[in-house]
Amino acid sequence: MTAETVDRRELTDQAGPAPKCPWVLLNYDTSRFPFAYFLQRDVYKVPDLGKLHQYVIAHYRKHGVSRDLNSEDNLTLRELMQVLTPESNFFKLYHDFMLRVLVRWVGASLSYSETPKMRVHLPQTPSVSSSHHDIIVTKRIDQVNFWLPFNTVDDTATLWLESDYGACDYHPVRVEYGQVLIFDGGYLGHGTKFNTTETTRTSLDMRFSYKGSSTRADGVRLMNRIVDIAQEFQTEQVIESEVS
Ligand SMILES: [Fe+2]
Repeated sequence: MTAETVDRRELTDQAGPAPKCPWVLLNYDTSRFPFAYFLQRDVYKVPDLGKLHQYVIAHYRKHGVSRDLNSEDNLTLRELMQVLTPESNFFKLYHDFMLRVLVRWVGASLSYSETPKMRVHLPQTPSVSSSHHDIIVTKRIDQVNFWLPFNTVDDTATLWLESDYGACDYHPVRVEYGQVLIFDGGYLGHGTKFNTTETTRTSLDMRFSYKGSSTRADGVRLMNRIVDIAQEFQTEQVIESEVS
């Protein structure tokens, strides 16, 4: 999404009662859901997704190309993930995660994106998505956001969130590989920065909701449920109870 002009007070008023927390991190078991493994083996043929830029630069040098990395490189690399078929190991794993783990967290039937957005953000390349509120585009008041990196990201390699609705105090959220960031992205401002780190970010994002939901109250209830899960359970326990 591009930069937006928004009346923040109007947006906050429109959001109404907020969930108890606008964002939360949940852990999952990467040995059971090895997203990075499949991307490393089947897509990029590299041992470390966080160092993807180094392999790209080496590839360019090998072919006599000498230039800085740029936004086009982000899009080209992203496309390699985006074209994976539903039958690929990666997407089988993705759907398995949603149906076994996310449904368990949500505690009810849910709707989620069949085709998540895949992202690559190389070092020394501009923001992939400046600060915005999804509601401006999606108009979906019942959805919450799901953001899963395939390598650990922090600082300007990760997503920046407001601390509270309308606060406009964007800060980076460190997300480890093995964690999912779930946040109220319809109304909570979020975006990325120029990546000044030495880490490439590879990630997916999508939105989900209760099946059949249509109201903001549904979205708030969903976010509160996720916050409760994060506070009450160690994720390993959640996953173990799911698979046992
Ligand atoms: Fe967004």
